[in-house]
Amino acid sequence: MAEKKALKEKFRRDYTPTNYFVEQVNLLFQVFEDCTKVSSSLKVKRRDGAPENAPFQLDGEGLTLQSLSIDGETLPPSRYSWVEEDLLEISGPLPSSFVLQSLVTTKPEENTQLSGLYKSSSIYCTQCEAEGFRRITLMQDRPDIMATYEVRIEADKESCPVLLSNGNMTENGDLENGRHFATYNDPFPKPSYLFAMVAGDLGFIRDTFVTRSEKVVALNMYSEHNNVKKLYHAMDSLKKAMRWDEETFGLEYDLDIFNVVAVNDFNMGAMENKSLNIFNTSCVLASPETATDADYERIQGIIAHEYFHNWTGNRVTCRDWFQLTLKEGLTVFRDQQFSMDMTSAAVKRIEDVNVVRSMQFPEDNGPMAHPIRPESYIAMDNFYTVTVYRKGAEVIRMYHTLLGKEGFRKGMDLYFQRHDGSAVTCDDFRRAMADANGVDLTQFERWYLQAGTPVVRCEAKYDVEAKRLSLLLKQSCRTPQGGDALPFHMPIRVGFLAQDGSELLPERVLELKEASQEFVIENVNSKPVLSLLRGFSAPIKLEYERDDEELAFLMAHDKDSFNRWEAGQLMFSRTIHANAKAMQAGQAMQLNAKLVDAVRRTLLDTSLDKSLQAYALTLPNLQNLAESMEIVDPDALVDAYKFTKKEIARSLRDHLLKTYEANLLPEDSFRNDAEAIGMRRLKNVCLGYLAALGDKEVLDVCLKQALTANCMTDLVAAASCLAANPGEQSDKALEHFYQQHAKDDNLVFCKWIAIQAAACTDQALEIVDKLFKHPSFTIKNPNICRSLFISFAGNMKHFHRADGSGHRWLTDRILELDKLNPQTAAKILTKLAGYKRFDAPRQASMKAQLERVRNTEGVSKDTMEIAIRALA
Ligand code: TRP
Ligand code: ZN
Repeated sequence: MAEKKALKEKFRRDYTPTNYFVEQVNLLFQVFEDCTKVSSSLKVKRRDGAPENAPFQLDGEGLTLQSLSIDGETLPPSRYSWVEEDLLEISGPLPSSFVLQSLVTTKPEENTQLSGLYKSSSIYCTQCEAEGFRRITLMQDRPDIMATYEVRIEADKESCPVLLSNGNMTENGDLENGRHFATYNDPFPKPSYLFAMVAGDLGFIRDTFVTRSEKVVALNMYSEHNNVKKLYHAMDSLKKAMRWDEETFGLEYDLDIFNVVAVNDFNMGAMENKSLNIFNTSCVLASPETATDADYERIQGIIAHEYFHNWTGNRVTCRDWFQLTLKEGLTVFRDQQFSMDMTSAAVKRIEDVNVVRSMQFPEDNGPMAHPIRPESYIAMDNFYTVTVYRKGAEVIRMYHTLLGKEGFRKGMDLYFQRHDGSAVTCDDFRRAMADANGVDLTQFERWYLQAGTPVVRCEAKYDVEAKRLSLLLKQSCRTPQGGDALPFHMPIRVGFLAQDGSELLPERVLELKEASQEFVIENVNSKPVLSLLRGFSAPIKLEYERDDEELAFLMAHDKDSFNRWEAGQLMFSRTIHANAKAMQAGQAMQLNAKLVDAVRRTLLDTSLDKSLQAYALTLPNLQNLAESMEIVDPDALVDAYKFTKKEIARSLRDHLLKTYEANLLPEDSFRNDAEAIGMRRLKNVCLGYLAALGDKEVLDVCLKQALTANCMTDLVAAASCLAANPGEQSDKALEHFYQQHAKDDNLVFCKWIAIQAAACTDQALEIVDKLFKHPSFTIKNPNICRSLFISFAGNMKHFHRADGSGHRWLTDRILELDKLNPQTAAKILTKLAGYKRFDAPRQASMKAQLERVRNTEGVSKDTMEIAIRALA
């Protein structure tokens, strides 16, 4: 009877090369209304030294196999069998070189997992990373098998006028019955996860890019016809990214064509398929009416990210999926550097560090903790995590800080020189960095081996007589198993400020390697104020005692913009945490006068860059604050947060209103430059404070902004303020938002949902349930699901209602979604994994829901893996 699917755990230590390898892949796709035929012809070779009688194993998942032949001879069923659910084995002996042909049929129309070949709206498209190619045809579906691909697509000409695959189009023409075809050839050997094909009725924009060796590259961006006008920002971003990679890393594009296709239904942000990037519409489409300033910047970053993968990922790829951070950590680092150069370095760094702290630190501190190079997985899709991506990028950034810009570039050059065209490991990357610079990076491997966030304590001593400064740094790190990690090799960037705020000494990078290490600096003329961990030079938690005066001093004087911001964040969190404690003890909450002074000074300092000013005024987010609470008490934390924000607003109401008004831009002309973005940021932070007061006057200001906004940034900001203050103005604004903007635009509808699901109001659960039942809500679209479910999971107080109703509601939805889209369901379930951080009733409630998932019959392996790991 219905046997439980075996959950097979794969281990990094078990890597072995295959006995055979596929060298060339020929594919024919015959797309029909409700069925697609895939004929494949694989040119296979036995590896030198492999036994002649070795069987040949191929991955295949959910395929209907019609026929199988070797060198033109049909294989009798006795020669092959499914040795595992998704693994076909052809018995040996086999020739040392042969052609394997297969014919399978699939139904893209019924593929709701969005992995393999599927249909998104009217567009046929593919998603193969990590293990989706096996859902299209039989293949050695692993990244160390690199082959060249030739592809022919046949489809109805009217419904699918555009036919695309990797590489160059070599031929196209008409066929009988209103059908047509196109053939493609990709000259670069690639792993199967980089394969892509698209067929559909798409509109497009075209442009060209001339590389520095004067090759002309055709750039095409495709979307549904009504969205074509929203592709220009992405095109502009792409050209900037291509130029930047030439200038920064000497890396040039290698084909004559580069395509981007936007689809509505996509499990992640975007995919770097060779010369045919496929994007979630949310990560590529932009117009002022539909995308916020933050969306514009995110799109620029993701376009660059996928483009940069052409070298870091595609030309040099991963040997196995445990090495994922080899391409993702490195490519995220590259896109971060690009964005820092295109916008503001300090602003971008603040945003990135916020993500690490509010998402990666909790992951590293919970049951899902894993090193950036994991040791095992059941479903690989579960390891596309903030740890692999974001902490991975921080690890790359540490090479950059330790070796310097030039040293890092030398390492990159050597990496490409050694490994272009191959599938390699994180150790190969580390070796290239070490060898190119003649340094020893042996200890640095620990960042790849050990999970957990290191804590670094700093104690400083200054000897007036000897003019000697000594810094004692002590590091410690608890591993997820509860033991102590071995000491890491990390750079600590330190600045030394004189009493007048100038730099007393040049900045230094201290290389911390020991558990406890003393750094002595001579000839220091006066006692400096230390600016530690500038630019967040290592992904750690820093402990260093200082009073509010010193923080205020740093806020005013540190030349490192990041640490100026950081000092303010520390001040905010001290007050909020103190108030949360007061709340728990039944005492009155208070506002620290020094904090109000500091906020006033920041607010009135018109010499500041407005984006930085806006971030300096922004409270640390709740996830971030929760991370430094011993036991998370959502009620006390959120109440303390609200109190603090409201009291600041009460103290500074007039200043906030003035700054708000001073930064209004004329409604009749929209501007998108750095200055205008800074003005909107600052104005909307002020509006956020004012809205915390919740009185009629400020809510009317919000409503006016919502009704007259000339861009999505201002509409979202005003609507978010109002959603947290239910009442007449809120109803009007949200209705306007829906009727005028969200009703006919999927991406704007997502924003409309997300704002309401995140709003901290007593009706939150009832609101999300109502949204779930909204006629335009469809559980089949991952963007819509994320907007509702992930936003609600971030609604600290109401998702974590003590009676468990929030947890139960979300789990009901996850189980429903899991039947259609396991990848996305599993991602959402991770929101229940951090239960150990909460008080007893909430822990019990979250655990009960995880157990319920684990005990449900027929749950996917993706979702089951999260439940099992979370409960382990
Ligand atoms: N490689 C993609 C990136 O650039 C990640 C990705 C896209 C992905 N689609 C996916 C990963 C589907 C797993 C499943 O980051
Ligand atoms: Zn990537």
